[in-house]
Amino acid sequence: MPKIKIDGGHKLSGVINISGAKNSAVALIPASILCDEEVNLNNVPNISDVDALESILIHLNAEVRRTGESISVNCKNVINNKITEDMSVKLRASYYFMGALLSKFKKVDMYFPGGCSIGSRPINLHLDGFKLMGANIMEDGNHFIMEAPILHGANIDLNFPSVGATINLMLAASKADGETIINNAAKEPEIVNVADFLNKMGAHIIGAGTNRIIINGVKYLHSADHEVISDRIEAGTYLIIGALLGKNLVINNLNPEYITPLINKLKLSGIALEVSENSILVNTVSKKKCVNIRTEAYPGFATDLQQPMATYLTQCDGISTINETIYENRFQNLPELGKMGAEYEIKNNNRRAIIYGKRKLHGNEVIATDLRGGASVLIAALIASGTTYIDQVHHILRGYEGIIDKLRSVGAKIEIIE
Ligand code: EPU
Repeated sequence: MPKIKIDGGHKLSGVINISGAKNSAVALIPASILCDEEVNLNNVPNISDVDALESILIHLNAEVRRTGESISVNCKNVINNKITEDMSVKLRASYYFMGALLSKFKKVDMYFPGGCSIGSRPINLHLDGFKLMGANIMEDGNHFIMEAPILHGANIDLNFPSVGATINLMLAASKADGETIINNAAKEPEIVNVADFLNKMGAHIIGAGTNRIIINGVKYLHSADHEVISDRIEAGTYLIIGALLGKNLVINNLNPEYITPLINKLKLSGIALEVSENSILVNTVSKKKCVNIRTEAYPGFATDLQQPMATYLTQCDGISTINETIYENRFQNLPELGKMGAEYEIKNNNRRAIIYGKRKLHGNEVIATDLRGGASVLIAALIASGTTYIDQVHHILRGYEGIIDKLRSVGAKIEIIE
């Protein structure tokens, strides 16, 4: 099993370019199923989640061509094959085939999706929405067969602005009969990116990016070229790294607006940031003030940046708190940080963490418990004294394109070892 080896303590200078957003790309690729012609997606990150979706598309008889950061998908001859359990559990975003295939074929046969184990992560809001649109759902353990003799528009109220449910219901509604309204929709930039793609193909979607999305179903979707937006979580992760180790480090090709809450917290903590239209120059400071974090749906502080931020807080003077409001189990990185010298307490049934700073971190053998938990220990290793070995690195490689090369290019001592 490969491991990441890091010799910590090196300042980082130069430019890091941010890739296309994982959580957009993983929705846009299944969305291409809806097109009756060929589509081209650009700025697609080269990560294993994209490989997994490509395999599913090929299994469904789509023609897929990947060149560099572009992917062309032709779904003219797609067959509605059952998506096996192995394929479904490889990643969370396999759930987007539910909405896409239901929309296209009015039938789907697949399994509960996989993804990081950071909470129970039910998909009841997706399923309830499909049911309101006319789908019958047969559920046997983790196996789902959904059929909609007529898939029709519906008025859907989400009791939580779920990212996955909002996108899945937009996909289903794009080719349903009539009008669908999603109330209390999620407002993440990835949702706007997917709605823009569907609209370019001829869908009728208005309101994406607000809490009320209205979709009027159409019969045919035509060819389109589309660009994946830049990855705000990758950008935020490198910004946190820069706040700890940056010496004129530039994080490039990002949209600062997407990470406003993180920028504000780092500024409050005393970090010097120069924010431009699509880049941020970051320099670390020796004294960092503690700050409190509360995760929220967009535009609040992103839960996906909470774990990387926990590492930052170990280096702040005083006591910081993190309130995790989205997931029930997203502090699994903290015991790993503890092995490196961090001091923390977890309270309120895993919903609140207290981080005691500033603590000196030292190298150790740790594991990436999940994608962003992996980023958290990787950041710890970059600032620690001595050498750290990170196991279970497939979690990290699922979501951060070229992370080893990007960090090496700015001066980090990091490598993959077998
Ligand atoms: N929820 C339900 N029922 C549902 C759907 C969600 O109770 O039917 C709950 C979840 O259990 C969770 C909360 O609502 O407590 C938020 O879930 P949401 O549906 O918004 O998240 P998701 O679609 O499963 C996506 C990202 C996550 C990111 C969240 C929140 C993808 C593939 N995943 O997950 O990304 O944390 O939105 O922003 O887009 C990551 O990249 O590391 C990651 C976990």
